[in-house]
Amino acid sequence: MDEIAEYNQARWKALVEADALFTRPKLNLDTDSARRMIDSGGELGDVAGKKVLCLAGGGGQQSAAFALLGASVTVFDLSEEQLKRDAKVAEHYGFEIKIVQGDMRNLSPFETGSFDIVHHAYSINFVPDAVEVFRQVARVLLIGGIYQVACANPFLMGVGQKDWNGEGYILKEPYVGGARITYDDQDWVYNGETRGKIPNPIEYRHTLSDVFNGLIENGFVISRVSDNCDMNSDANAAPKTWEHFTAFAPPWLNIRATFRPDKLEIE
Ligand SMILES: C[S@@+](CC[C@H](N)C(=O)[O-])C[C@H]1O[C@@H](n2cnc3c(N)ncnc32)[C@H](O)[C@@H]1O
Repeated sequence: MDEIAEYNQARWKALVEADALFTRPKLNLDTDSARRMIDSGGELGDVAGKKVLCLAGGGGQQSAAFALLGASVTVFDLSEEQLKRDAKVAEHYGFEIKIVQGDMRNLSPFETGSFDIVHHAYSINFVPDAVEVFRQVARVLLIGGIYQVACANPFLMGVGQKDWNGEGYILKEPYVGGARITYDDQDWVYNGETRGKIPNPIEYRHTLSDVFNGLIENGFVISRVSDNCDMNSDANAAPKTWEHFTAFAPPWLNIRATFRPDKLEIE
């Protein structure tokens, strides 16, 4: 394991111990809320019987949603503590899910063409090279399979709601692909007093050209991009609030693509 994985493993252990937002299992899902979680655009179709990989998706949220909708779920994550939350939700709802611990940069535990869908919740910015991960995903997807991946909006990495200077949210870092960026977690990630004990996230900027060309060059046909990620944005809210900040600076992108390496040659 390299130092990037070691750092993230320790950080996610601490986040689970603090019961941070992304580690709280979803124990009250029904089919409507499950669908909204994994398919807010309503385009994924029926996932019953589909083989789904929740990539870097531990914590007991997306695995539960897909399983509730009848998919055959494998959840893969670096963090043992996050994966225990997936085991907990599986027991709670009474379904089986496969749980595999590992690093998203190495999907060798899985055979070529093992999955119909890879759902990749926000995590790709925890590793320096997104394209390395796209290559791994391309190998484990069936031809025609779907890849749903979230990533940071690269223009805004390192900018937060506290960076309002009276006129705008200021950019502090040059726009460099692969650059290492650390920042304070948002207040809403934590419960109460715990945040001081948790190391800040360390992330890496993936430029738009790295992300989109990396997908295209690995055989993906992009079908949807969304930068509207349900954040209650409000340009009239007070500056330095999350609602105001996200109205000016949408922090995330969601991308949906189909694995069609046969379309790689432009006709
Ligand atoms: C923001 S969470 C995303 C999943 C979570 N279910 C959610 O809804 O927020 C990020 C996840 O990425 C995992 N992670 C970080 N680095 C990883 C790596 N190199 N390989 C696999 N998983 C990783 C963390 O352990 C964590 O569970």
